[in-house]
Amino acid sequence: MLDLQALLTSISDRIYHEADWGQPAQYIPDLAEIEPAQFAISVCMADGATYSAGLANQRFTIQSISKVFALIATLGRIGDQLWARVDREPSGTAFDSIVLLESDKGHPRNPFVNAGAIVTTDALLSGREPKLALAEFLHLVRAMTEDDDIHINGAVARSEQETGARNKALAHYLASYENLFNPPDLVLGTYFHQCAIEMTTIQLARAGRVLAGLKGSPRVMSLNHARRVNALMMTCGHYDGSGDFAFRVGLPGKSGVGGGILIIAPNVASIGIWSPGLNFYGNSNAGTRAAAYLTQETGWSVF
Ligand code: DON
Repeated sequence: MLDLQALLTSISDRIYHEADWGQPAQYIPDLAEIEPAQFAISVCMADGATYSAGLANQRFTIQSISKVFALIATLGRIGDQLWARVDREPSGTAFDSIVLLESDKGHPRNPFVNAGAIVTTDALLSGREPKLALAEFLHLVRAMTEDDDIHINGAVARSEQETGARNKALAHYLASYENLFNPPDLVLGTYFHQCAIEMTTIQLARAGRVLAGLKGSPRVMSLNHARRVNALMMTCGHYDGSGDFAFRVGLPGKSGVGGGILIIAPNVASIGIWSPGLNFYGNSNAGTRAAAYLTQETGWSVF
């Protein structure tokens, strides 16, 4: 029988032994300072048990993993109307790339590249005050986790606001194609705060239970929406590294430049991993290896 606790401990030991960390995100000053030699993994199982190894109580900013929650919130708010503004195809380009936006006439390839997430945030803002939109967003994340001890790291949000020239360019470019309905600065301020939500790997794994369809998880979304979000995580969740992630791990996953990864094993488990050093694609370097070790040993790949 699978001894999951022993497996997670051995994966954590292996990751520390290999000491192949990568470099934390350099373009967000507050992330650039983080010690890369850190690792955590947590797994929530269908029977309600949670197993962890490494620094599972360490908080990190979820960054682009917030795009999963923004997609869930947007589907809940406007449903299929979203697809008139964002496509559902892998981009094959970096998370912050602008190249396809011109040929695609301001229509982002998917909700997980930055341009697509700026559009979902815009959809969440329409018709209400940014403070309320952000409060509702945090409420959703807390409800999915069943834990109110989840907060926004204001310093990281400000750090990105002061330096985020690339995202500002994307937002203004979207506006030029009339695919942004609110002022770009307002949308970006909200987007940066969503990205700066801090969670532990335990909280992240708990938040994913509804996507994994685990019994007893909070009913914040329909089964149909969960299926669609998982499909997008599989095909687009790691940007131009999505094919490699599917090849090595074989599960829907969403990364963030804070070093977190949320991974869904449908009907089996929800997994949170963190290690702040990144690979070429801007996804957690050690975290991706740990995910591959986990699915190799458990056979949880969907393929
Ligand atoms: O918008 C940004 O650039 C960051 N707040 C989030 C990017 C990110 O996490 C990409 N994922 N690996």
